[in-house]
Amino acid sequence: MARSVLVVNGPNLNLLGSREPAVYGHSTLADIERELAQVAAGLGVALQTFQSNHEGGLIDRLHAARLDGTQFVIINAGALTHTSVALRDALAAVAIPFVEVHLSNVYRRERFRHRSLLADLAVGSIVGLGVAGYRLALEFAATYSLPPAAAPG
Ligand code: DQA
Repeated sequence: MARSVLVVNGPNLNLLGSREPAVYGHSTLADIERELAQVAAGLGVALQTFQSNHEGGLIDRLHAARLDGTQFVIINAGALTHTSVALRDALAAVAIPFVEVHLSNVYRRERFRHRSLLADLAVGSIVGLGVAGYRLALEFAATYSLPPAAAPG
């Protein structure tokens, strides 16, 4: 059975391509998702993608992931990374292993971006590598040794 990976993007990431290109680059979210779909096909991964500007929408999608066979999550929660206890709690509740991705190097930016409420729950984090961060996270997800609860039955 193909490994099932869900890529979740949070607020304002639908504007990639036109949003602060000096910080986030010129690729659109559609470009990124297209590249990830190609990489996933090569890796034999079943890929799902989701973006919402709403905290509750992201939380609902993560709850659904618990029931739809998702085995690994790649998440760029945007600004909610730095603020959302609710999103953190959702990730803890569903207990699906995840990697946190940020296009920009948040540690070279404003202080409020240095704190992630998700990072200590994550398997790991990739920051500052632009769109390559998503691809690297997907390659990692494809071979990550899943805990027994998340492994296919
Ligand atoms: C971001 C970094 C966040 O601080 C910011 O709020 C974003 C994008 C990134 O990908 O670099 O929306 O997550």
